[in-house]
Amino acid sequence: MYDVNNIRADFPILGREVNGKPLVYLDNGASAQKPQVVIDAITQAYSMEYSNVHRGLHYLSNLATDKYEAVRGKIAKFLNAASENEIVLNSGTTEGINMVAYGWAMPRLQAGDEIILSVMEHHANIVPWHFLRERQGVVLKWVDVDSTGALDPQAVIDAIGPKTKLVAVTQCSNVLGTMVDVKAITDGVHAKGVPVLVDGSQGSVHAPVDVQDIGCDFYAITGHKLYGPSGSGAIYCKAERMAEMRPFIGGGDMIKEVSKDAVIYNDPPMKFEAGTPGIVQTIGFGVALDYLMDLGMENVATHEAELRDYTVQKLSGLNWLQVQGTTADKAAIFSFTLDGAAHAHDISTILDKKGVAVRAGHHCAGPLMEHLGVTATCRASFGLYNTTDEVDTLVQALELAHELFG
Ligand code: ALA
Repeated sequence: MYDVNNIRADFPILGREVNGKPLVYLDNGASAQKPQVVIDAITQAYSMEYSNVHRGLHYLSNLATDKYEAVRGKIAKFLNAASENEIVLNSGTTEGINMVAYGWAMPRLQAGDEIILSVMEHHANIVPWHFLRERQGVVLKWVDVDSTGALDPQAVIDAIGPKTKLVAVTQCSNVLGTMVDVKAITDGVHAKGVPVLVDGSQGSVHAPVDVQDIGCDFYAITGHKLYGPSGSGAIYCKAERMAEMRPFIGGGDMIKEVSKDAVIYNDPPMKFEAGTPGIVQTIGFGVALDYLMDLGMENVATHEAELRDYTVQKLSGLNWLQVQGTTADKAAIFSFTLDGAAHAHDISTILDKKGVAVRAGHHCAGPLMEHLGVTATCRASFGLYNTTDEVDTLVQALELAHELFG
């Protein structure tokens, strides 16, 4: 039984006020709040169990190493990876995609080779590919979304040509909430012999993920959006792809031996994890994943679908508000603009006065903003602890903004 009030009690920040009003936190797409168990795990790790990992032979180092390494297995379980050795721990999706760009794509792509992207990618899944365009003459090919914000898997598959070397798509738009059928894309793209990277930064938060079922080659996730600490995350790399990848960052921990003339790398996935990692962040991330797996991601998805449907219904009554992205298969993420001259930043400032936290701006999705013909939107992005009462508060605050600016 999913009891949202009990769940809210797990998140201390949800009990606070902002600007004299109860906090209504609708900026989960940017970063989610943390349950007490995660906060406690961080305190425990720093106060009683802290040491560097993989290095010492002393008690605390072994303890920290065990706790840190256990997270690899939790991530594998959360994503249903075949092996924890397919999980590279990192600071989040941005680092994960950069690792693939530098370590896997850069050595194998030549001038004129193509990477296919959807127009609704986040900059984390655009800028690393622009590096290859700038430095190696790689061509970026864009696939549009339709007027509802949906991405047709066949359009992605049809975009593949003889020079296509990679398809990189999001599973869920951070702006529109559109869910993408990444399994259908992967099936069709693989049939043409091309690997697929999935940006799971938003998709992994809203529904269960099964990377074996999707079949993708790379799947990147971010800890702080999954109710864990910032500076934590991971990327799933199918074993064959991991074997093809060069290390991206060099340093301690990713080597077996180093001499003046040579270096012998550690085995994957350690080969891709140089330097002292985000030890405590990763331990906290593991606790956040335990929390999510205890709740059940199917239950989170059901709760958020109810919030989405309720919000769709409420916002559709506001004829002065335009929601971007109206496809039925979407997460509870709503980007909107208001009639009149009000800038998204002004609207979010009014909402903030009512305790409602939303994001305003381009949402790190420049090509999508261009496609939509807007420079900025306000975005309300819901999480597992939000309620329909909070949707009502959002609507009241929007009505006030409309009165002031309309
Ligand atoms: N990617 C985050 C967002 O969509 C920061 O807000």
